[in-house]
Amino acid sequence: MIGDKKVLFSGMQATGSLTLGNYLGALKNWVALSEEYECFYSVVDLHSITVRQDPAELRKKARNLLMLYIAAGLDPKKNCIYYQSHVSCHCELAWILDCFTYMGELNRMTQFKDKSAKHADNINAGLFTYPVLMAADILLYQADVVPVGKDQLQHLELTRDIAGRFNSIYGDVFTIPEPYLGKAGAKIMSLQDPSKKMSKSDENPNASIYLTDDRDTIIRKFKRAVTDSESSIRYDVDQKPGVSNLIEIYGAVTGKSFEEVEKEFEGKGYGDFKLAVGESVADLLDPLHTRFAELSGDKAYIDGIIKENSEKAEYYATKTLRKVQKKVGFPERIR
Ligand code: TRP
Repeated sequence: MIGDKKVLFSGMQATGSLTLGNYLGALKNWVALSEEYECFYSVVDLHSITVRQDPAELRKKARNLLMLYIAAGLDPKKNCIYYQSHVSCHCELAWILDCFTYMGELNRMTQFKDKSAKHADNINAGLFTYPVLMAADILLYQADVVPVGKDQLQHLELTRDIAGRFNSIYGDVFTIPEPYLGKAGAKIMSLQDPSKKMSKSDENPNASIYLTDDRDTIIRKFKRAVTDSESSIRYDVDQKPGVSNLIEIYGAVTGKSFEEVEKEFEGKGYGDFKLAVGESVADLLDPLHTRFAELSGDKAYIDGIIKENSEKAEYYATKTLRKVQKKVGFPERIR
């Protein structure tokens, strides 16, 4: 708890550009949660270098991500929005937790297996211990809840195991975090292959709507979206995955149910429907673009936010880290 509020921690990697899927599935919910919880939203750049990055690109993407958090509606005075790499406690706690995590546990992580298959030429130790750094992120802030996608649940389960193990040896040090699955954020699929999730690392730029895409690009991508050879607008994931994905998107953007969407487009063709979906998304992202452009032009403001919030994050992180260091037997600091 911080004050009378429960603590929430989440983060996104600064790789790729955020997509409509990230917005409707995660960011939009983050904004809704920021009243109820004391929130820490990190740009997890330490995690990003488990895969090779171009330094200038990484720096730019990390700053864009931080600005997108704000442009999407997270108030940086209320939410602690910061770069993971600015708070060295993350690495220090990760090392300690490494010593409380078994090789066997990390070997079971499906994301490690997937990523090592994908990056066979660079299966580094960081990729292997990635989930321990994630545990450190969460436990440093004594987070009660962690909004994550299904693909991160295994890592959160491991975090709970590590925290429980540590607590059983040293007493109650860590809050055991719960996953926050919430009212299921919309699951948005690729526009080019609706059997795959829309992903910020997709190689085909037409597969994803990026939050920074302009109106024309958005509408063009929706026009090209893969559908099927029928012409009815009907929600049926098995038979009509492409159309169902468009219904899902339109529903998430307008707040309409699938039935309402079907009704609205009864007797209409795919062309009209795709245009309507594209326009609804462009309208949704319009204010975000305006805000993003303003923030991009205001270096001093963003720098101020970065400084203030990293100090705030560091304050809470250090509290936990000192407690842990004492528990495991490191000598006290002399002031
Ligand atoms: N591993 C997460 C992802 O790729 C990102 C992440 C890092 C995270 N640390 C976290 C998410 C802590 C939630 C909490 O999506």
